Amino acid sequence: MAESMKGMHRTCRVAEVTEEMIGSEITLMGWVQKSRDKGGIIFVDLRDRSGIMQLIFDSAKTDKETCEKAAKLRSEFVIAVKGVLQKRAGEANTKLTTGNLEVQVNYLRILSESEVPPFQIEENSKTKDEIRLQYRYLDLRRPDLQRNMKLRSDVAYYTREFFHNNGFMEIETPMLGKSTPEGARDYLVPSRVHPGSFYALPQSPQLFKQLLMCSGYDRYIQLARCFRDEDLRADRQPEFTQIDMELSFVDVDDVIDINERYLKYLFKKTLNIDVQTPIPRMTWIEAMNRFGSDKPDVRFGMELIDVSDVVKDFDFAVFRNALEKKDGSVRGINVKGEGDMGRKQIDKLVEMAKGMGAGGLAYIQLKTDGTVKSSFSKFMTEEQQAALISAMGGEKGDLLLFAADRNKIVWNVLGQLRLHFRDELHLVRKDDFNFLWIVEFPLLEWSDEENRYMAMHHPFTMPMEEDWDKIDTDPGSVRAKAYDITLNGNEIGGGSVRIHQDDIQEKMFEVLGFTKERAWKQFKFLLTAFKYGVPPHAGLAYGLDRLVMLMAQADTIRDVIAFPKVKDASDLMTEAPSRVEQKQLDELGLEVPSEEQ
Ligand code: AMO
Ligand code: AMP
Repeated sequence: MAESMKGMHRTCRVAEVTEEMIGSEITLMGWVQKSRDKGGIIFVDLRDRSGIMQLIFDSAKTDKETCEKAAKLRSEFVIAVKGVLQKRAGEANTKLTTGNLEVQVNYLRILSESEVPPFQIEENSKTKDEIRLQYRYLDLRRPDLQRNMKLRSDVAYYTREFFHNNGFMEIETPMLGKSTPEGARDYLVPSRVHPGSFYALPQSPQLFKQLLMCSGYDRYIQLARCFRDEDLRADRQPEFTQIDMELSFVDVDDVIDINERYLKYLFKKTLNIDVQTPIPRMTWIEAMNRFGSDKPDVRFGMELIDVSDVVKDFDFAVFRNALEKKDGSVRGINVKGEGDMGRKQIDKLVEMAKGMGAGGLAYIQLKTDGTVKSSFSKFMTEEQQAALISAMGGEKGDLLLFAADRNKIVWNVLGQLRLHFRDELHLVRKDDFNFLWIVEFPLLEWSDEENRYMAMHHPFTMPMEEDWDKIDTDPGSVRAKAYDITLNGNEIGGGSVRIHQDDIQEKMFEVLGFTKERAWKQFKFLLTAFKYGVPPHAGLAYGLDRLVMLMAQADTIRDVIAFPKVKDASDLMTEAPSRVEQKQLDELGLEVPSEEQ
């Protein structure tokens, strides 16, 4: 039976009571975490989003009716109690913020009963993800998720505060729009009024924020919802939130400067952590060469070593073939202390490398007993082997791993293996926050699939002035005024200076293989707007979810999103996406395969 709360007013949340309130009567409301009947005295833990408070129903002090009612309490019942706050009679519970206090209850109302929940509401639940997500509203009651949601709320608040105080305006951009060139697949929304036509949900507000610069709003910020139909991973969701900004009359250093001040402010306010500024910068090519990744985790070593020169005369087809390829190389990593690894484990590494697109993974084991074992010993002389080990800084007990292929594959394989060992060998700490800017990205990236250059960031990214003269002769070597901000090996944000000159933009489209007509068709509104006075501008967007995930030291982005989707982009709680009524389809002029098909 559910009672009303009429006449009762919550004094405060349970963890907001103070020692000064001892002796006074207070009213608390919340959920029953658990209750224990110790014969004559019933102990109930009352939970709300601030914490847990112990309640006492003592048959010697409280009336019989209330005690009988208290005996009926079960986990997750919602109750209101009135009672006297007192120092805890027994030993203090150091696990609770209210651990030395308790409430001697003299009045109880059961506001709502609960069925036995499918899992217990507790910290670090071991319950399967599917069950947790199906009952997300219960999952969200758990203290760890409540802390994450509070942190997320604080991050949003201090973000708005910082940018507002620095002259930024918050402006919303449409959800129903035309597709922007971000590179992922669009989510489409059919138009009823224009049968056969579709809106695209924004992958980011990119073009709108550039238009706002044209309109003179020289500092824009938005906590923007973005939608991308891409394969999901632990740090990707089909809909996510960006902290999106654009500024006029600025260059790379201005954007970096304001964002360093922002990160410093945010981490101080939310986590009381001092971010050291200036944040180091590394060029893209250095990041790839040393760490095999454009979002390197530089908290540990195991850097990539280019041994192409050392192995070029080896009689080993795998190495030779790689070196003959355009942009081919042989590189290695030295996994310290893993030289005695068993065959099975090594085979696993080789399989991992193959899964990342490599033909295989060559290795040299420098065993602790002094023997050397290599998968390609047949193909090198003793001296060559010694030279290679020396180039790798190999010592007794080390495992040397080599990838040979085009740079792109070599970087990827060794970069990922490096991260594999980081986790396997526990080489870093989660609470060690290490920021790094990656700058001077290539402007273009060759696509084998499309057989043309593609924009690495997007077609409106400004090339570096000093490289522009190579745009015809060696487009691949032109660097861009693009930058990413990384944290502990994660890309948390990225942006660029934009092109605002017609001639450079036209040339860009030409290099990207767009005809003038096609460029105009796709970006007519932007190109037209740019004819009417456009300021130099630049911007950046953070993935808010990723940022909060790292700040909360959570393992997946799902743990900082209230209602996330699973790997196949469905929502286990609402069961979206779902089929719709025939009438709805008819209105939209859509035909879809029937359910049986
Ligand atoms: P970009 O595509 O790099 O840049 O996106 C910016 C940041 O958004 C986050 N992010 C995601 N987070 C969760 N799930 C996803 N599927 C997802 N995709 C991206 C990342 C990323 O760094 N308009 C440009 C920015 C600019 O140039 O100003 C843009 O969208 O943390
Ligand atoms: P094979 O002669 O094909 O047995 O290869 C000898 C060794 O080279 C094995 O350890 C393979 O895993 C390894 N290997 C094959 N292709 C590559 C590659 N692209 N990069 C590094 N090692 C490779």
